[in-house]
Amino acid sequence: MTTDSTHNSPANEQQLRDEMVRHLIETRAARSPRVVDAFRKVPRHLVAPGVEMAKSYDAEAALITKTDDTGVDISSVSAPRIQAVQIEQADVQPGMNVLEIGSGGVNAAYLTELVGDHGRVVTVDIDPDVTRRAKDFLKEMGYRNVTVLTADGGSGAVDFHPFDRIIVTVQAADIPTPWVHQLNTGGRLVVPLRMRGMTRTIAFVRDDHRLISDGFELCGFVPMQGSGENRMHVAVIHDAEGEEIGLRLDGHPQPDAKALAAALAMPRQAAWSGVMLAGDESNEHLDLWLTTALDNLPLMAAKPAARRRGLVASASPLGIPTLVDGDSFAYRTVRRTADPDRFELGALGHGPRGQQVTERLVAEIQTWHREHRGDRAHIEVYPAGTPDDQLPAGRVIDRLHSRVTISWP
Ligand SMILES: C[S@@+](CC[C@H](N)C(=O)[O-])C[C@H]1O[C@@H](n2cnc3c(N)ncnc32)[C@H](O)[C@@H]1O
Repeated sequence: MTTDSTHNSPANEQQLRDEMVRHLIETRAARSPRVVDAFRKVPRHLVAPGVEMAKSYDAEAALITKTDDTGVDISSVSAPRIQAVQIEQADVQPGMNVLEIGSGGVNAAYLTELVGDHGRVVTVDIDPDVTRRAKDFLKEMGYRNVTVLTADGGSGAVDFHPFDRIIVTVQAADIPTPWVHQLNTGGRLVVPLRMRGMTRTIAFVRDDHRLISDGFELCGFVPMQGSGENRMHVAVIHDAEGEEIGLRLDGHPQPDAKALAAALAMPRQAAWSGVMLAGDESNEHLDLWLTTALDNLPLMAAKPAARRRGLVASASPLGIPTLVDGDSFAYRTVRRTADPDRFELGALGHGPRGQQVTERLVAEIQTWHREHRGDRAHIEVYPAGTPDDQLPAGRVIDRLHSRVTISWP
């Protein structure tokens, strides 16, 4: 059949895939021809039969497949763009032995295309519903060299190691030791690692007992379950229905939420940095600098209605870095300039010492601009227990299994 008059016709299906691939190339998510070919080939709509076909091929859309009792999404088929980013980060070559942690079927299919007939893919998920669906899909695709396991991926896949590549497709707060031990030296681990509230998919290269970053990008993933479960806590500072404002804590000290609620009701203080950002420029490196330099910087999560009502001036699903100092706080923001494509970075604060905290945050924005704009941080992972004097200078994030360091050139 060649007509595209029916929604499910092969012509329509291929057009949707081509359109998705065009977006992946334009956004530079897919760069190598082999990755592009894999995305052009796999019929990803078959993994989610109930979903409208066009949605399956929307490059930016994740398909949520499970939500827990508290309303948190815990399983999905990841958006094509983030799958492509991670696969490029992993640099998968023919003949490799690859472990995927967090299954869904589609990503494992791309990986299987990339390792070819002489390679192997093992994909592990903690949820039997997910592995059942992944198995059915991969069988339908006719792949022989992919193994689907139902297990806690925090232990890796001991019967199948060593791996050339490990790709984690669930948000992790720590790097469990088996992931390092089961990776060949020089092998790559790609993982959405949450560091002080924000998650970045990071490509690490194993160098003996440590991991060294080779590129990262902000992203969102469902949180890990099982042995690696480590969810963030929210300290609510404004709880009016539909307008909630909270601080997401990820190893940050518990704030005095009552004092901060009182601070929010006080007049807003502002300080401006003179540092400009282009309209399409991301804050991600600035935010990584701020989290390196400032001790108590949780993320403010505000409902859009709170912003519309003017309670806060900034809101983002990723959270806004917010400096807390006792009874006062300040968050980073931008204001328009005469040039419609340039925004000035600054901070807004509240509380008895709001002005002081605001100026402290602005001073770090200026330091970033003066000393680190254009730099890329190095992120490294060392085993827990590594003495401080063997770590690079910078921020250290201590987890159960690892010490994650963020350092700047
Ligand atoms: C974003 S989905 C994976 C998407 C998938 N890779 C795809 O093809 O698009 C994340 C998955 O991680 C799984 N997961 C959560 N914790 C896990 C754990 N400890 N071990 C293995 N899988 C886990 C969830 O059940 C969920 O299915």
